[in-house]
Amino acid sequence: MIKNTANPILGILGVGYFASYFITSLRNGGYEGTIYLSPRNAQTAKRLSEEHRCLIAQNNQDVIDKSDIILISVRPEQLSDLLGQLSFRNDQIVISAVAGKTIDEHFTIADNLPPTLIRMIPVCSIEAGEGVVPIFPSNAEVEKLANYTGTPISFDSEHDFDLALTTSCMNGWLYEFFGTMTDWLEKKGLSQDKARKVILHNIRGATAYALQKDDQKLADITREIATEGTFTLEGLNLLKKQQGFTAWDQALDHVHKKLGE
Ligand SMILES: NC(=O)c1ccc[n+]([C@@H]2O[C@H](COP(=O)([O-])OP(=O)(O)OC[C@H]3O[C@@H](n4cnc5c(N)ncnc54)[C@H](OP(=O)(O)O)[C@@H]3O)[C@@H](O)[C@H]2O)c1
Repeated sequence: MIKNTANPILGILGVGYFASYFITSLRNGGYEGTIYLSPRNAQTAKRLSEEHRCLIAQNNQDVIDKSDIILISVRPEQLSDLLGQLSFRNDQIVISAVAGKTIDEHFTIADNLPPTLIRMIPVCSIEAGEGVVPIFPSNAEVEKLANYTGTPISFDSEHDFDLALTTSCMNGWLYEFFGTMTDWLEKKGLSQDKARKVILHNIRGATAYALQKDDQKLADITREIATEGTFTLEGLNLLKKQQGFTAWDQALDHVHKKLGE
């Protein structure tokens, strides 16, 4: 049983890049609970303890013994090594951020996990308080925790969760896309600072506008804007002709297939 449901004690095994942005996001979002860190990555653990009021545990088992919820954020190939030597209490919740490993695969790797194992893999934009936090299966405690970081979305099946994960990769491609448009503006003479602001605020505006029109299909918003005779329509037609959109579908298909392998 979680003793303090408002602020459950969180323990983290695997204190690297993911853990860093997750903890930053939790603290920025107002999470006041105690956070215990595995000491293995001493430098990152020290930084997080100083910047975000985390405590460094003596070892991995100490993290588990002191925590209500345990987040596993090691790389997939490190999972069996990590879990092999540990024991959990049956009432603990384990969250796995390990991409590409199903719930069943976790239990195949380690038969010592408690029954409540939840997959939760948000992208790094949660550090800015924005972004999807995909969860499977749904769990009230995990959703409460995720709510400090971004927008939790729980899925009914691992298939649906994997679809959301596929678009997490898309989140990474977007920066490259934004960058090419920023570079184009710069080449045409805009300062780096202005180019970056113009592109990023245009995109932020587009998502904010679409989010408030949630009864409308996204393509219909384009149709409303790209009417006959507009420059927007001319550009849109050119992008379609050059497979500008189908290329994204192909990349999503590719990653989705890889996630299922
Ligand atoms: N990076 C992302 O943007 C992102 C996004 C979504 C999900 N994820 C998932 O998050 C997980 C971690 O990715 P990451 O990018 O954060 O990798 P990372 O920076 O390499 O962090 C993994 C950390 O786990 C530590 N570790 C490994 N084995 C351990 C053990 N037995 N006990 C304690 N700590 C151990 C590593 O220490 P050593 O360096 O000493 O090995 C490292 O500090 C992956 O499964 C990935 O799928 C990452």
